[in-house]
Amino acid sequence: MGRSVKVAVIGAGISGLLAARELKREGHQVVVFERYNRIGGIWVYDPRVESDLLSLDPNREVVLGSAYLSLRTNLPRPVMSFTDYPFRMTKGTDSYFPGHVEVLEFIQNFAKDHGLVDLIRFEKDVIRVERVDESRNDQWVVEWRTRVNESEWEKDSEVFDAVVICNGHHTTPRVAFFPGFEKFPGRQVHSHNYRVPDPYKNEVVVMIGAGASTYDLCREVSKVAKEVHLSSRAPDAQVSRLNDYPNIWQHLKIVDVSEDGTITFEEGSSVQADTIVHCTGYSYDFPFLKTNGIVTVDENRVGPLYKHVFPPKLAPYISFVGLPQRAMLFYTFELEARWIAGALSGKFRLPSEEDMLGDTEAYYRKMEEHEVGKQHTHSIFPLQHDHHDWLAAEVGVVAPSDRLKKIHGHILTLVKMQRDNVRDDIDREMKLEDEADRTQSWYLGEP
Ligand SMILES: Cc1cc2nc3c(=O)[nH]c(=O)nc-3n(C[C@H](O)[C@H](O)[C@H](O)COP(=O)(O)OP(=O)(O)OC[C@H]3O[C@@H](n4cnc5c(N)ncnc54)[C@H](O)[C@@H]3O)c2cc1C
Ligand SMILES: *[C@@H]1O[C@H](CO)[C@@H](O)[C@H](O)[C@H]1NC(C)=O
Repeated sequence: MGRSVKVAVIGAGISGLLAARELKREGHQVVVFERYNRIGGIWVYDPRVESDLLSLDPNREVVLGSAYLSLRTNLPRPVMSFTDYPFRMTKGTDSYFPGHVEVLEFIQNFAKDHGLVDLIRFEKDVIRVERVDESRNDQWVVEWRTRVNESEWEKDSEVFDAVVICNGHHTTPRVAFFPGFEKFPGRQVHSHNYRVPDPYKNEVVVMIGAGASTYDLCREVSKVAKEVHLSSRAPDAQVSRLNDYPNIWQHLKIVDVSEDGTITFEEGSSVQADTIVHCTGYSYDFPFLKTNGIVTVDENRVGPLYKHVFPPKLAPYISFVGLPQRAMLFYTFELEARWIAGALSGKFRLPSEEDMLGDTEAYYRKMEEHEVGKQHTHSIFPLQHDHHDWLAAEVGVVAPSDRLKKIHGHILTLVKMQRDNVRDDIDREMKLEDEADRTQSWYLGEP
């Protein structure tokens, strides 16, 4: 048995639960702090939206949830399994792309089956993580607040040897400030505050963005709205009607907005819109983390971080689970959690501070050479499989099979899911392959 330390985990979403499981398995003493009274993070559907639909008002009450009522996964179950805990088809369903209710059940079962719920202190909002004494990295004070009643909070704190940060990154919206932003007389909403299409009935809606959920939402809204206009500043943005949809048009970025609600796009066309929906993503945000500048968030780059997990100067006592995007997320988070637990116990050796920093800087340089913006630091596609393989070797677990890698790459290139039935097509394809080759499962960790 290696060294056992006292660790605080911040957040009881899937990242925090994975961290708790691995830390516990490795013999550490674990306390998980969760702001709300339930586990599951973004997979808990919350019908409430924020009072400021763009989430800019600093005094608004923050709603964690970003899940919308019709949300289905954009990765298939085998890609959302853990190495020893498959996310199988359940009775009565036959799609590889479950809805959010089923994902939450999967997470809840995972927590129950691994005895994690007892490790969680609910309704504790962490407000400060700071070194007790700047001359040493293995003592951290965690301060939290608990609500007493409508107007009062109670604060308390405790000292830990290490802190694993798993607070998610789908709660602090990024808004597009296009020319004329303040002049728009209609409603502006961030997709963080989108739940159902009803409010958009008979409206002309402009949606900004080009991610998977942008396309999901625009198709859903188009069924009740008069028109939907998608606007994207992506280099491959198209100007055309969207295939199969009579009332969805694609445009380049917004270049002007006037007081009467007319929105002009870069290609020269314009529409008069009732509502603008920003599907423009989220920012990494760690308001509680006080490191005196050792870890910063700069244009959405959290850094410097060795392999998206350890700040070289504070490793292994401060670590992050859940930062990478456009990877096999659940698998990546599981391996990150194992790596951290083993680094703390002494089972895995980390490189020297200097070498970790060198590796991180080399990664940043490579991004620059390829003209990839800082804001994409944690979006690891198309190199996700190199990263998966590297992590797997580091912690000694099976790397994803070629079959899984193939389907993941395939899906990420289809990420726009521009048609309603892309999920059905992939379902059909995967089922056919399953039937053709019953000896090889799609799920991780199975032959
Ligand atoms: C709309 C949408 C669709 C998605 N679809 C997929 C998909 O199909 N497949 C996939 O793999 N991934 C998908 N994702 C990515 C998703 O983020 C990950 O699947 C995963 O759920 C992230 O888990 P997490 O634990 O890192 O963060 P979260 O789920 O955000 O959990 C963070 C937890 O930390 C708590 N917390 C935060 N701050 C504090 C604090 N200061 N003190 C105490 N507690 C705190 C929060 O209350 C929350 O419970 C999707 C994300 C979104 C937004
Ligand atoms: C909230 O609790 C505090 C401390 O117990 C008390 O002094 C205060 O009156 C309470 N406020 C309300 C609005 O109930």
